[in-house]
Amino acid sequence: MADGASLTALSVWENQRGSKLTIETIDPTTGVLTGNYINNAAGYGCIGSPYRVVGYVYGNLIGWSVRWSNAHEDCQSITSWTGYYQNGTITTQWELVYGTQINDGADMFTSVAK
Ligand code: BTN
Repeated sequence: MADGASLTALSVWENQRGSKLTIETIDPTTGVLTGNYINNAAGYGCIGSPYRVVGYVYGNLIGWSVRWSNAHEDCQSITSWTGYYQNGTITTQWELVYGTQINDGADMFTSVAK
């Protein structure tokens, strides 16, 4: 059964690296998601300021991307996460492209107070 109840607008999610995804809007017809992402992961650039998020929600499924360029810093890279919501957790796998290099990994997000 799809359990998408907690993938809602104005929810905030934190991963094991301390980064935060804020879902601002989800279009009920198209599933298009907008929001922002604050990277707090050690060993990466573009830390501590919000970057735009665009993506999709379909029931308990979610995918979003971040282009790591804002007024503070430009890391010339893009990350896309794909995953699902279950039992209070968003489980994802991600890919980060920079130049001709693609790195991958896994992030788990739990809901936090706004
Ligand atoms: C960069 O260093 O090029 C931009 C920042 C990348 C941060 C990555 S995205 C996947 C992983 N999960 C996070 O929350 N941060 C890192």
